[in-house]
Amino acid sequence: MNNKEEYILGIETSCDETAAAIIKNGKEIVANVVSSQIESHQRFGGVVPEIASRHHVEQITLVLEETMSQSGLTMDEISAVAVTEGPGLVGALLIGVNAAKAVAFAHSKPLIGVHHIAGHIYANQLVGDLKFPLLALVVSGGHTELVFMKEHGSFEVIGETRDDAVGEAYDKVARTLKLPYPGGPHIDRMAQEGQATIKLPRAWLEEESYDFSFSGLKSAVINTLHNASQKGEEIVPEDLAASFQESVIDVLVTKTLKAMKQYEVDQVLLAGGVAANKGLRAALQEAVDKTGKELIIPPLSLCTDNAAMIATAGSVLYRKGKRSGMNLNANPGLDIEKPFN
Ligand code: KG4
Ligand code: ZN
Repeated sequence: MNNKEEYILGIETSCDETAAAIIKNGKEIVANVVSSQIESHQRFGGVVPEIASRHHVEQITLVLEETMSQSGLTMDEISAVAVTEGPGLVGALLIGVNAAKAVAFAHSKPLIGVHHIAGHIYANQLVGDLKFPLLALVVSGGHTELVFMKEHGSFEVIGETRDDAVGEAYDKVARTLKLPYPGGPHIDRMAQEGQATIKLPRAWLEEESYDFSFSGLKSAVINTLHNASQKGEEIVPEDLAASFQESVIDVLVTKTLKAMKQYEVDQVLLAGGVAANKGLRAALQEAVDKTGKELIIPPLSLCTDNAAMIATAGSVLYRKGKRSGMNLNANPGLDIEKPFN
């Protein structure tokens, strides 16, 4: 069938959300369904891969049906099926990849494998047009990266974390403060209520490096708490959260500004689950505003894992002619820089 409109069906199952969505012409959300498993993982303090896979199996058909029904479209009208092929948990990814293959095969639709982080970056296209060259600050549970893009679909990682991802550091600090998983939003809320009065380190690394390191900061927070409890001193948890958050934001914003200048970008994008952080959103907005450049930040619902972002990135690849074969496999170590052709 020849439609004038392009509708991409996206599927995302890389971690603990089973999600499907349909995006019209690479910009407009027609349907967006996210089924979260967070409650099932909470009592373990983190995502348990086997439980994640089982939930995806249970949810994927329901989520796909709900997405189609929300859209009011028929499968005939779908242009292509895009799916997260990696990185992520291999068992979780496999459920999405196999569901996408089944749908694409049954309805003779093109299949397109998408990189999860490319998806996070392209969530911004649902807010405004991307202007190149641009710089994306990607902050999620598994990744902390500065990505330079000279054009659509081209990703150059100019800096990345050498140890913990930002989200991981947030979750570990939260666990030490006995907050439920995922801890990021709790620390964020507490940080707004506290004062950054506790001195914590900032890992700047080498002068010319855009890499990050958060494990030293995380250990410093944990040591501060342990030392205080041994001495019988009291630490105000809100102040510790505010001090931790200030240190994280200081490093992220400073390195982003430096890279913006060196790479002479026209636009900055914030992406990934930690992009939901109120303190980071405000600090980056203020800093980028001073440069006169444009910053795009996705709404909260598009910061954490969803399939709208996968369908949007899928649309870009679709227009560039990318097609995956029926031998598409889950790839937990997928490289974002690798060109697809
Ligand atoms: O992108 P995402 O949903 O999953 C991955 O691809 O990793 O990111 C999840 C991460 C978790 O570590 C969570 O604690 C963190 O994002 N997060 C936050 C906030 N909301 C979610 N971290 C700090 N502040 C927040 N408001
Ligand atoms: Zn993610």
